[in-house]
Amino acid sequence: MISLNPSPVYCQHAKVAIVGAGNVGGTLAQRIVERNLADVVLLDVVSGRPQGIALDLMEASGIEGHSRHISGTTNYADTAGSDIVVITAGLPRKPGMSRDDLLRTNAKIITDAAKQAIAHSPDALLIVVTNPLDVMTYLAWQASGLPTNRVMGMAGILDSARFQTFIALELGIAAADVNAMVLGSHGDLMVPLPRYSTVSGVPITDLFDASTIDRLIERTRNGGAEIVELMQTGGAYYAPASSTCVMIETILLNQPRLLPVAAYLHGQYGLEDIFIGVPARLGCRGVEGILELKLTEAESTALHSSAQAVRQNIEKALALL
Ligand code: NAI
Ligand code: 2OP
Repeated sequence: MISLNPSPVYCQHAKVAIVGAGNVGGTLAQRIVERNLADVVLLDVVSGRPQGIALDLMEASGIEGHSRHISGTTNYADTAGSDIVVITAGLPRKPGMSRDDLLRTNAKIITDAAKQAIAHSPDALLIVVTNPLDVMTYLAWQASGLPTNRVMGMAGILDSARFQTFIALELGIAAADVNAMVLGSHGDLMVPLPRYSTVSGVPITDLFDASTIDRLIERTRNGGAEIVELMQTGGAYYAPASSTCVMIETILLNQPRLLPVAAYLHGQYGLEDIFIGVPARLGCRGVEGILELKLTEAESTALHSSAQAVRQNIEKALALL
């Protein structure tokens, strides 16, 4: 008979805290543990919800073949020592609402969440998902007191994945053969870049006429709202969770990868003191560099308009706090 020590000493796994155990947070927890990336602590203001999701996911661990631990809590102390904190807490959009309508409520939630989470995990990297994304990332950065490279927002991967999907559907090919690039804010003024979006290396400007490209861009800009209109009770969460998980995987495995993320700009693209979507080298230290693409005048103007809208909302949000 083999006897096992009833109190084994486990080697330390990476730990990810997810603040907000809603649709995005719960699905992200599932993605992380099923890829065996890290232990997860889910935190929510609603007691019982994070604990229930955690138990449900733990009960699937044998079937899914992972060995990560998931717990649920309402207490930030349980998130202590996290390597990555992800904030998905806040309200999602209802039909007819823009992301900016969420500004007032989510500004307070995000500020409090960033302060409390980073107080318990001062060495963590912080990934913001809550909308309006670029504004919330700025507020979370300010509240956290972290250096700019350790704070980032998730949106560009999702927006690019949507553009990638619509291009693939149009051509009847696998999405894996498409590389799409979307910069700017996560909102109506996002900047999809057809010149830098390719199918097996061929720019889509060589594959589609201008009106087809315009239609694909419009559907990408409207990607979140299209799902809200269909679902009526909440927004997208499978692709958002997958997109956030890519960032977590890149950081924890120090891959590093060039991904579009909302990063702090110190003058790149002629912009400063703002978080906005740009191609960044992501690795174990967070945002390790920003790639400055050569933009046409029209593309640069679109990026600056996008930044201008973010800046106005940051000012609005700061006044509301
Ligand atoms: P949800 O409503 O399913 O989940 C939000 C969770 O946050 C709820 O469980 C709620 O109880 C919790 N919460 C609220 N206040 C809290 C607080 N102070 N502390 C801790 N938890 C709190 O919403 P869903 O669909 O998960 O979306 C979450 C956020 O992510 C929304 O703002 C949504 O717009 C945004 N989002 C952003 C995306 C992006 O690309 N950046 C993509 C998808 C969603
Ligand atoms: C999305 O794009 C709502 O921002 C969220 O699906």
